[in-house]
Amino acid sequence: MTTNTAAWISTKRADLTVKPAAYTPPGDHEIVVKNHAVAINPLDWILQNAGELVFSWIKYPFILGSDLSGEVVEVGKKVSRFKVGQRVLAHAVGSDPKRNSAAEGAFQNYTVVLAHMACPIPDTMSYESAAVLPLGLSTAACGLFEKDQMALQHPSVNATQAKVTGHTVLVWSGSSSVGCNAIQLAVAAGYEVITTASAKNVDYLKKLGASQVFDYRSDSVVSDIIAACHGKTLAGAMAIGMGSMEACLDIVHACKGNKFVAMATFPVSFQKMTKGTNLKYQFLRQLPRLVAFMLSMQVKSRLRGIRTKAIFGTSLIANEVSRAIYVDFLPAALAQGVFVAAPEPHVIGKGLAHVQAGLDMQRKGVSASKIVVSL
Ligand SMILES: NC(=O)c1ccc[n+]([C@@H]2O[C@H](COP(=O)([O-])OP(=O)(O)OC[C@H]3O[C@@H](n4cnc5c(N)ncnc54)[C@H](OP(=O)(O)O)[C@@H]3O)[C@@H](O)[C@H]2O)c1
Repeated sequence: MTTNTAAWISTKRADLTVKPAAYTPPGDHEIVVKNHAVAINPLDWILQNAGELVFSWIKYPFILGSDLSGEVVEVGKKVSRFKVGQRVLAHAVGSDPKRNSAAEGAFQNYTVVLAHMACPIPDTMSYESAAVLPLGLSTAACGLFEKDQMALQHPSVNATQAKVTGHTVLVWSGSSSVGCNAIQLAVAAGYEVITTASAKNVDYLKKLGASQVFDYRSDSVVSDIIAACHGKTLAGAMAIGMGSMEACLDIVHACKGNKFVAMATFPVSFQKMTKGTNLKYQFLRQLPRLVAFMLSMQVKSRLRGIRTKAIFGTSLIANEVSRAIYVDFLPAALAQGVFVAAPEPHVIGKGLAHVQAGLDMQRKGVSASKIVVSL
């Protein structure tokens, strides 16, 4: 019998503790992956610190984690794309309300994964590199390609097949994990990308395919981007990071093209809501700002004819975008080097005991890097 171990969150706001977990076999359309690396996302510490506010369906004890890479050890009856022993990356979706399953969290040795949310990886790609992709990739893909989001044409590995649209996508916060994926996906789909980042990350984002990179800390960043978009047609904007929505609304309003902003970041700062703080008090303190933000966003967007929509990074499970990315595009794109694992992995240790430190480090902030734990 296979034995499993997980970094459990035993109750709301508890530190993760490493303990035995059941090994769960795959359902018909699932595979089981023996994880060799997991990566940390803001969602992980947000759920740890404020899970009852944001994902109230989670029942404790639970296993968090979205990003994993490893080796297939068992394949569901109706899965033909994978075989035992294959190296893969996958988006673990245990926290999604329709899955709501500890067996599908990444922070354990064996995770049950939906086959259409997994992708084979090339032999030359390390597990640590592959693990940086899943949630950032899925979130970017939802915002860019879902029919009720930006609805861009899908990416293609073959540059001659990707009809070059002549249209431009604005990605605010290109050096974030979501941003690095959004840049590469939009370019592979035939769009020019304008983005923002700190000066030190400009060259990196240009290598990923961005045509112009602006410093989001500059006082003139909004007017500089509006000037850069003169004569171009915007296909839409993706707002990532605090303050991004306001800037994107101003830019989209002033530019020609699709009046649409996909919103990745919820406008509440969870960073200061640590385990020891009174969560309800912290949230109530932010409530007036949140209400004011929502009202002003509604008014600004309606008056300007701009459509906005919040992204939910697992919504692609149930639509054609998951297959367009994880089945049709990513396997070949990784094999041919058309798509790279970005941002860079920052490996902090080996073993599930390091995952809690990873959550604490991610909460303090990263720059064009992803915290990874080898297993
Ligand atoms: N809606 C969803 O389903 C979903 C899913 C995943 C993530 N998210 C959200 O999307 C956001 C990004 O997540 P992530 O994992 O990609 O983050 P991340 O990799 O941790 O983001 C780090 C980057 O953020 C940039 N940054 C910091 N402050 C900024 C600001 N004020 N404006 C613009 N950029 C700023 C930094 O850029 P420089 O170092 O270049 O300064 C850094 O490279 C988070 O708010 C996260 O909660 C939402």
